[in-house]
Amino acid sequence: MEKRIIVALDFNEAKIALNLVDSLDPELCRLKVGKELYTACGPDLLKQIQDRGFEVFLDLKFHDIPNTVAKAVNVAGNMGVWMLNVHASGGQAMMEAAREALLEFGSQRPKLIAVTVLTSLAQVDLHQIGIECSPEEQVSKLAFLTRDAGLDGVVCSAAETRLLRAQLPKEFCLVTPGIRRATDATGDQKRVLGPADAVRSGSNYLVVGRPITQAKSPSEALFEFNSAIASVS
Ligand code: C5P
Repeated sequence: MEKRIIVALDFNEAKIALNLVDSLDPELCRLKVGKELYTACGPDLLKQIQDRGFEVFLDLKFHDIPNTVAKAVNVAGNMGVWMLNVHASGGQAMMEAAREALLEFGSQRPKLIAVTVLTSLAQVDLHQIGIECSPEEQVSKLAFLTRDAGLDGVVCSAAETRLLRAQLPKEFCLVTPGIRRATDATGDQKRVLGPADAVRSGSNYLVVGRPITQAKSPSEALFEFNSAIASVS
């Protein structure tokens, strides 16, 4: 089975995170460790998760001078993560340095993707930081820059998936959060897509947090997400 679901471990305590991890099957999903859990628990917890057989997307969104990002990315490569990310707005040189820092891992290297425009930023926020084009234009611009820097793909919102899929090569990977079944609460996500629609729109990997982590039975919820996409993929 192609594992398209990445479950977001948005927790601040190892015990709670591992409780959830132990209810899931590494054959059926991958896991995302972001800033909250990593800041709280660090590489030790990452290793415990990997020791249970899970592949990890380390979502730390690096954004710094090229040398610093390259070194951090290399450390993540040594930790054996499956995927990691940087901010595309760090620029082409920064992204190229990140890509080069992973070359030593050969075919075992993690997938390297970039964040384009944070979905929390609207037009007015972009203007405040000196960006005059629309969020959609900026997303496209940064996605092309990411491709030019030789990265594997981008994180993109449900609203952007179809457009980016149409503009970018087939092998360029799209990772999409904001996925909800019809019965799920949307929470703070403004624009959501169902799992099957996300895959149909061209998303390769779906990041799912609360619909699985807060479910009465996380494994049943994961089964439902996988069943929904099995019919399309
Ligand atoms: O609980 P939920 O399914 O909304 O979690 C989605 C996950 O994807 C969270 O870890 C969130 O930080 C992340 N994410 C997002 N929107 C983005 C980028 C990342 O929701 N644009």
